[in-house]
Amino acid sequence: MPVISVPEVFNEEELYVDLHSMFGHSLYLKCEGFNFAGSIKLKAAAEMVEAAERDGVLGPDSILIESSSGNLGVALSMIAASKGYQFLCVTDSRCNLTTRRAMEALGSRVQIINEPDAKGGLLAARIDYVRALCAADDRYVWLNQYANPHNWKAHYRRTAPAIAQQFPDLDVLFVGAGTTGTLMGCARFFHEWHSSVRIVAVDSVGSVTFGGAPGRRMIPGLGTSVRPPILDESYVDDVVNVEEADTIRACHRLARGGFLFGGSTGTIVSGAVRWLAQHDESGQTAVAIAPDLGERYLDTVYQTNWLQDLYGEEVLNSAELTAASPTG
Ligand SMILES: Cc1ncc(COP(=O)(O)O)c(C=O)c1O
Repeated sequence: MPVISVPEVFNEEELYVDLHSMFGHSLYLKCEGFNFAGSIKLKAAAEMVEAAERDGVLGPDSILIESSSGNLGVALSMIAASKGYQFLCVTDSRCNLTTRRAMEALGSRVQIINEPDAKGGLLAARIDYVRALCAADDRYVWLNQYANPHNWKAHYRRTAPAIAQQFPDLDVLFVGAGTTGTLMGCARFFHEWHSSVRIVAVDSVGSVTFGGAPGRRMIPGLGTSVRPPILDESYVDDVVNVEEADTIRACHRLARGGFLFGGSTGTIVSGAVRWLAQHDESGQTAVAIAPDLGERYLDTVYQTNWLQDLYGEEVLNSAELTAASPTG
């Protein structure tokens, strides 16, 4: 029986969903949403805060500040509350209302940026805001998830070894790319320890991370409008780009099977299934990582009006949703 007194120590690391019956491909989905922050970002947040404490950067008067699309913000809010730090989260208009309320309930301040930077979009505008506050007041401590090596080290130390332990014969790993912390931590680990594992990055269409053209992206978590500095593409074997309409369909198909996952999981599953269909290598062991769960997306990904306004009436074509195509 796990008994805890601080929230950040609990994290379910060993839960996988077998997607074969739903998507017709052998694919195990690692669930990262079962902790008190509700997402994979708990690990990056904990690692970055602990490193800042070790380095003497964080003190009792410090105010943590971070640009986050939401999940890192919730994780930092939780850790800040648990450890007694103040925290300001700088996010933008795409942040879910529930996520924002969760941060506020945990005692954090939330700043919403609505005006995109002409070149770097909303992300660049968020980062400019953080930089300006840090320059004006030295109590602010910016962990900078986009450049902080402890972001990817969290997954090098925890996420990837946990997968390797459960799947010693792993052939291919699908990882969504936001800051690329999860991707780079897993890619570096497997490169060093199990070099035969293929690492496939999954990104959204409209993201510039792997050199694509910038475009509209409404689902938070994956994709960037500024290339993440911690990305080293030499560790990545392949990249799949997914349209948001396909993300939505994958999310709803999972939900019809009783699994309510977050938006980025739909992107990752959709990209992984397409990649597996194009690389007909039956018998291979494939794992994908699901960064969070679906409750935070009930007003967006799972809300019919929002979907139809953004993606058109046909996005939830019921035939496609129910037509899982098991191959046996
Ligand atoms: C829901 C969700 N999916 C995916 C990611 C991407 O993870 P990473 O930043 O490690 O690339 C994030 C990051 O915030 C996220 O919140």
